[in-house]
Amino acid sequence: MALARAARIILVGAPGVGKGTQTERLMKRFPELSSISSGDLLRKNVRERTPLGIQAEAKMKTGELVPDTMILRLILNELTTRGWIQDNTLRPYSVYSSATGVDEADGTVDSVLIPSQFRAAKYQYTDHPSASFILDGFPRTASQAIQLDSIVPINLVVNIQTPPEVIIERICNRWVHEPSGRVYNTTFNPPKIEGKDDETGEPLTRRADDDPEVWKARLKRFKETNENLLEHYDKHGVLWTVNGNSSDEISPQLFKEFGKRFGAGGN
Ligand code: AP5
Ligand code: MG
Repeated sequence: MALARAARIILVGAPGVGKGTQTERLMKRFPELSSISSGDLLRKNVRERTPLGIQAEAKMKTGELVPDTMILRLILNELTTRGWIQDNTLRPYSVYSSATGVDEADGTVDSVLIPSQFRAAKYQYTDHPSASFILDGFPRTASQAIQLDSIVPINLVVNIQTPPEVIIERICNRWVHEPSGRVYNTTFNPPKIEGKDDETGEPLTRRADDDPEVWKARLKRFKETNENLLEHYDKHGVLWTVNGNSSDEISPQLFKEFGKRFGAGGN
């Protein structure tokens, strides 16, 4: 289905709730969508042994969040590289035509958390459907959300809710194709050939943080930060919650709501 305007979506939910899974499904259903997964970006850096990846690895292994500055730098870089926002202090404004999302008083993004190379920037974005994106896993604290607000406004926050006892079972059966972020589950959506990625045939692996004890630490951290995050977006009037124990319950509701809000000609 085609989109009528730019969708700038965030998926929020406990570790293993199915953010990655729902992202893949939304992109299949609405081909104009693309996604950024903060976890996938971090794991790529860990795999490539970048300085940022080496720093992030220790935090991720224990289920802790990485520092805001680190994740913000990664996300800003992705958003600008993909052309979804433009930093018009570095590049002349030409293609995009809508308003900025930053402090109009001094024309800068006003925050100590934004890495210095981005601090003086004034970002612009477009409402054209081609600039639609899903953020999976970012922001996950109210402070990250405030930072993002100052760069580009989000127009839908999908809060996915599934009981933790259902999720932990899935985590034990999850396999991933790390280079692409594609997610499988030996019972729910197994690969066509056991242990191999459907698209590339490359081997699937287990995530280092899918150990049950680490998952519990990730869940604890999620519970500590999520309430403030949801409250932030609720105040902005963009929060939408979906409940379900399985994809069959969640995906159709999500498609319907998404189509209603962004689809050309409704759903
Ligand atoms: P991240 O990679 O974002 O992990 P997460 O939030 O813990 O979520 P997951 O990726 O584990 O789960 P998911 O919701 O995507 O579920 P999935 O679709 O795979 O982050 C990892 C780490 O990076 C963090 O702990 C932190 O250290 C750091 N980090 C990331 N972002 C950060 C940020 N903004 N700030 C600071 N630090 C950050 O599904 C799980 C399994 O269930 C799969 O096997 C799937 O096949 C199966 N499944 C999915 N849906 C269903 C369903 N409906 N029914 C049955 N099975 C299903
Ligand atoms: Mg994920």
